[in-house]
Amino acid sequence: MRIDIATLFPEICETYLGQSIVGRARAKGVFELYCHQIRDYAFDKHHRVDDTPYSERQGMLLLAEPIWQCYCAVVGERKPHVIYMSPRGKTLNQTKLKELAEKGEDLFILCGHYEGVDQRVLDKLCAEEISIGDFVLTGGELPAMILADGVVRLLDGTLSQEDCFVDESHYSGLLEYPQYTKPQIWQDMAVPDVLVSGHHANIMKWRREKSLEETYLRRPELLETAELSDSDRAYLSELKARYEDMQEFLQFK
Ligand SMILES: C[S@@+](CC[C@H](N)C(=O)[O-])C[C@H]1O[C@@H](n2cnc3c(N)ncnc32)[C@H](O)[C@@H]1O
Repeated sequence: MRIDIATLFPEICETYLGQSIVGRARAKGVFELYCHQIRDYAFDKHHRVDDTPYSERQGMLLLAEPIWQCYCAVVGERKPHVIYMSPRGKTLNQTKLKELAEKGEDLFILCGHYEGVDQRVLDKLCAEEISIGDFVLTGGELPAMILADGVVRLLDGTLSQEDCFVDESHYSGLLEYPQYTKPQIWQDMAVPDVLVSGHHANIMKWRREKSLEETYLRRPELLETAELSDSDRAYLSELKARYEDMQEFLQFK
């Protein structure tokens, strides 16, 4: 996969995506990354990239032409999937990251700034708009890095086998079970016995039940769409009864 990021701050994206797990994946050739300065494609002598909106609103908008010139120069004959990071877009989630990673298409990610981008270039690029949440940041760089990091993490060759992501939060619709590392006792708190028992089947059962419990307590709405077996449903009924009893007990007290 090749990822191109068009931005007014290419060095920010280069720095973050050149580090740690993602940086190593890039060095190994799992994906290619190029960050482009939109200003380099500005057509006037002052390299102007913004102007005032026609709506009489305050603030500035990124001009269509430098972004279009950047896109044409970068993609050539290729047809990457174009994404504009935007608070108006559909909210990013793990399913979307999985879809992008599995499709494996090249990505051209546009980062807005100021009040955003002239709508005409978004229409011309047939850009998919993706948001990272219902809030507004000053620029699209953090959202673009979040998207790129999340996609790259799922590409073959990025994580080692031990880092396997399939039972992590959101991958299969549930939240992750609690995790523990050494020492076995820390400040009088012991790791659950089952995890040091060496009994594989019991460990797997414990993990699944804890995943169900964490999801039930923290994000119960996820259970409506998660893939659940009959034994998962039975365990959830048990949990529900247990926590309902606890509520009654607390109210009584
Ligand atoms: C100040 S914002 C513009 C907000 C725009 N006027 C609006 O109301 O939708 C500047 C840029 O930051 C990026 N941005 C801000 N918040 C974002 C979010 N939640 N998700 C994705 N991108 C965001 C976008 O690229 C946007 O063009």
